[in-house]
Amino acid sequence: MTTFDAIHAASAVANALHVLAAVVWVGGMFFAYVVLRPAIGDIEPAGERPKLWARVFPRFFAWVWAAVIVLPITGYWRMFMDFGGFAGSGLHVHAMQVLGWVMIGLFVYLFAVTHRRFQGKVTAGDLAAAGNQLAQIRLIVGTNLALGLIVSAVAAFGQVGL
Ligand code: HEM
Repeated sequence: MTTFDAIHAASAVANALHVLAAVVWVGGMFFAYVVLRPAIGDIEPAGERPKLWARVFPRFFAWVWAAVIVLPITGYWRMFMDFGGFAGSGLHVHAMQVLGWVMIGLFVYLFAVTHRRFQGKVTAGDLAAAGNQLAQIRLIVGTNLALGLIVSAVAAFGQVGL
C-alpha cells in the first residue's frame, strides 16, 4: 500500500466517522426535541418530567461528547489531507466549520452550566426550579438542532457543487 492509498483509506474512514457522528448528534436532538418532548408534555404530576429528563440527558450527552470530539478531528483531517487546507476548501466547508464550532460551544455551555444546574435542582428535589432550567436546555437544544440540520444540508448541497 502506498502512502497515497493509506491516506485515501484513512480519509474514507474519517468521512464515515464524520457522518456517523453527525447522525448520532443531530438525530438524537431530533428525537429528544421533536418526539420525546411533546410526547411527555402532559404527564402528571409535572415533577415527573424533570426526573425523566435527568435520566435521559447523561446517557445522550455521553454520545454527544463523542460526536463533538470526532467531528472536528475528522473534519479537519479531510480539510487538510484531501482539500489542501483552509485555502483549498469550498464555501460549504467554511460555513460548516464556523457553524460547527458554534454548535460545539453551545453544547459545552449547556453541559457545563445549564445541565449541571438542572441536575443539582433535581437532586435537591426542587422540581419547579429544575423545570426552569429545562426550559433553557430546550432553547439551546432547539437552536443546535436547527443549526445541525442546516449544517448537514449545507454539506450535502456543497458536495454536489451548489
Ligand atoms: C467542526 C468542524 C467541522 C469541520 C472542519 C467539518 C469538515 C467537513 C468536511 C471537510 C467535509 C467534506 C465536504 C465535502 O466532501 O465536500 C464535511 C462533510 C460533512 N459534514 Fe462536516 N465539519 C465540521 C462539523 C460538522 C458538524 C457539526 C456537522 C453536523 C452536525 C457536520 C456534518 C457533515 C455532513 C453531514 C457531511 C457530509 C458528509 C458526506 O456526505 O460525505 N460537520 N465536513
